Amino acid sequence: MKSMFTHEPVLLAECLRILNPESGESVLDVTLGLGGHARAFIDRIGPTGRFIGLDADSDNLRLAQESLKDIPVASTFIHANFLSLPDCLPEDRRTFDVIIADIGLSSVHVDDPSRGFTFRKDAPLDLRFDRTTGMTGAALLASLDPSTLLSAFREYGELPRARSLVDAIVRVRGDHPILRTGELVDVVRGVFGYKTPDVLPQIFQALRILVNQELSALRHLLAIGPSLLKPGGRLGIISFHSLEDRLVKHAFRGLVTETKDVVTGAPIAKTPFTLLTPKAVRPSAQEVKRNSRSRSACLRALSLSPLYTSRRT
Ligand SMILES: C[S@@+](CC[C@H](N)C(=O)[O-])C[C@H]1O[C@@H](n2cnc3c(N)ncnc32)[C@H](O)[C@@H]1O
Repeated sequence: MKSMFTHEPVLLAECLRILNPESGESVLDVTLGLGGHARAFIDRIGPTGRFIGLDADSDNLRLAQESLKDIPVASTFIHANFLSLPDCLPEDRRTFDVIIADIGLSSVHVDDPSRGFTFRKDAPLDLRFDRTTGMTGAALLASLDPSTLLSAFREYGELPRARSLVDAIVRVRGDHPILRTGELVDVVRGVFGYKTPDVLPQIFQALRILVNQELSALRHLLAIGPSLLKPGGRLGIISFHSLEDRLVKHAFRGLVTETKDVVTGAPIAKTPFTLLTPKAVRPSAQEVKRNSRSRSACLRALSLSPLYTSRRT
């Protein structure tokens, strides 16, 4: 099956231009995937640089590690969810010149139907990035209360008639568990009829976000990522969904906003952060043509002042 996705790293030229990894710098890639961004960043930092790559998916981590085995850079590969930052990092290496996150699913997840991310093939309804932990999509559909399912389909999938879908899921699971992608598609078809192909992407997206706690993970990254920057460091986040981009935009805006006296409006504290992307950076028409996955990508980045001092080492 030819994937709608390719292995081309999304917004790569823009990431390199804006995050500008330089010779001898340290880079943390919290979503290593197949190592596409990583390789380009490593080429820039060269043999005197340092690289750490994380991925929640141990298969992707292994593939990336294999494809990067020739790199002449001190590197560490860690099977971890970025929800566990900073504890998952080596204690003596917890600040970086460049941090990159390219969140969401990788081409492998879509290309391998056995992972359950695609509704195009019948397979176990798994949808976990990390198959060593957490509940599968099937387990969540079996156990979550209807109101949680309803808010997930509404909020993460922006699904019309979400209540009818949840009612149908509750009815069917009372009879037998929904264990496979094909069984979920049948339930959806019973509710949405000929509109099923239009809503399946939204339904699988909502379930994936729920299974992998993607928004909580992103909130954590936004809270912790800036504190992992060295003075002069840059943090870039590529998101693929308006819900995610909204979180990134608001968090970054908060970080670059000066604290002001509520009465006088006079600045109380200068912020050490600067936006590197006053507007979200989107892929060019040529990139979207080459790689349809990039279509909804959106990069935002900020930097920490080189003059910033703290008690961190
Ligand atoms: C879009 S792909 C990254 C592609 C990569 N930039 C490249 O060029 O090959 C996203 C990767 O992040 C991983 N991932 C998603 N959420 C994660 C999380 N919270 N913690 C760690 N890895 C995560 C997925 O398993 C997937 O491999």
